Amino acid sequence: MQAFEFYSPTKILFGPGTQAQAGPQAAACGASRVLVVYGGQSAARSGLLDQVYSSLAQAGLVWEAFGGARPNPRLSHVREGVKRALAFGADFLLAVGGGSAIDTAKAIADGAANPERDLWEELWLKRVPLERSLPVGVVLTIPAAGSESSHSAVLTRDDTLEKRGLASDLHRPRFAILNPELTYTLPAYQLSCGITDIMMHTMDRYFNPVSTNELTDELSEGLLRTVIRNGRLALERPGSYQPMSELMWAGSLSHNGLTGLGDNMDFATHQLGHELSAQFDAAHGATLAAMWGSWALYCVDANPARFARFGRAVWGLDGTGRTEMEQALAAIAATVQYFQDIGMPTCISQLVGKPLSEELLETLTRRCTFFGQRTIGSFKVLCHDDILAIYRMANH
Ligand code: NZQ
Ligand code: ZN
Repeated sequence: MQAFEFYSPTKILFGPGTQAQAGPQAAACGASRVLVVYGGQSAARSGLLDQVYSSLAQAGLVWEAFGGARPNPRLSHVREGVKRALAFGADFLLAVGGGSAIDTAKAIADGAANPERDLWEELWLKRVPLERSLPVGVVLTIPAAGSESSHSAVLTRDDTLEKRGLASDLHRPRFAILNPELTYTLPAYQLSCGITDIMMHTMDRYFNPVSTNELTDELSEGLLRTVIRNGRLALERPGSYQPMSELMWAGSLSHNGLTGLGDNMDFATHQLGHELSAQFDAAHGATLAAMWGSWALYCVDANPARFARFGRAVWGLDGTGRTEMEQALAAIAATVQYFQDIGMPTCISQLVGKPLSEELLETLTRRCTFFGQRTIGSFKVLCHDDILAIYRMANH
């Protein structure tokens, strides 16, 4: 196990009715003027926004609402939000929704706390370190991105379509309200995207070069088995509390750092997927399912034993009489089959409707390397030619 720091300060309020805690919890954080950040219309339609507003008002807080965060949130919208936050004098951001609303709130918090800085050029591109931000709270409506407990926020710049994340402990929400009942209105496709993303936050940590993390590995395998089983149940029985509870809690634990302690995260599949989201505005979880199988087949030779263990521990595959490579390939096939079973794309044409031209694959690759400035991954370090090869493998 490598040396690590673990910091996960987010207070979790889990269970039915917990949205009524939004006001008291924000007040306990010292809030007085709350900017409520939400996405499209789902939280208005369900009545959740009204419940949150009344909780804020009952706690004696002044609030304003800023809606319109879209999946793959845009920088231009965040810039508008920063203006709103400053004009209103917000001292607290409350996100109501999923990763897109939460990341929008985190980015507005950064911009409003640093009005003299350009949010993208200085803070997001890390030319200037982020030293302060406003506090953020969350009412979660979809188990997926894990932003309710993570230190990152991901934005897409409108004109260049660069999708970039900024990680900082200042981004960790003060509290997160997790009521599984708030997810019952989710379309099946979004739920499947969420299941995939939860799995990938742990798998992108599990496949790494360090193999001496017994507890971290066991936690990861247990989380994955739980998500796989309850993902199926949640899709089969929409509106069921028990499977949604398991998914919601797993989503937060899968991205607060717990399942990667003591190792070097990989996250190559996330980087490959981000370029597809940026280019095609595709749902984040779907891009991961479209790329993972090709990533795995390309990288399996780096450590077939790791994939073989994944197959036995997560998928319950019997390794008797099979070589490590045979077991590894069976584990990859089982994972890809699961993504297919839950309605996810497992190649590029299933994601965007057609295979891409060689020229576009080259563009995605160059973007993925930040125009030659970086490699991705740690399980197998991937440079330009590797990334292009993986995009080609997925391009059918
Ligand atoms: O906008 P509304 O109307 O709310 O609709 C949303 C949206 O269309 C809908 N939805 C959410 N809750 C619902 C619901 N519809 C009905 N009932 C509900 N209860 O679902 C759609 C997707 O919402 P979104 O917030 O985009 O989903 P998700 O949580 O998957 O977030 C995706 C974003 O998070 C980023 C992704 O890149 C993407 O931009 N990520 C953020 C991370 C982080 N900050 O730590 C890590 C992740 O790896 C990821 O990159
Ligand atoms: Zn993700």
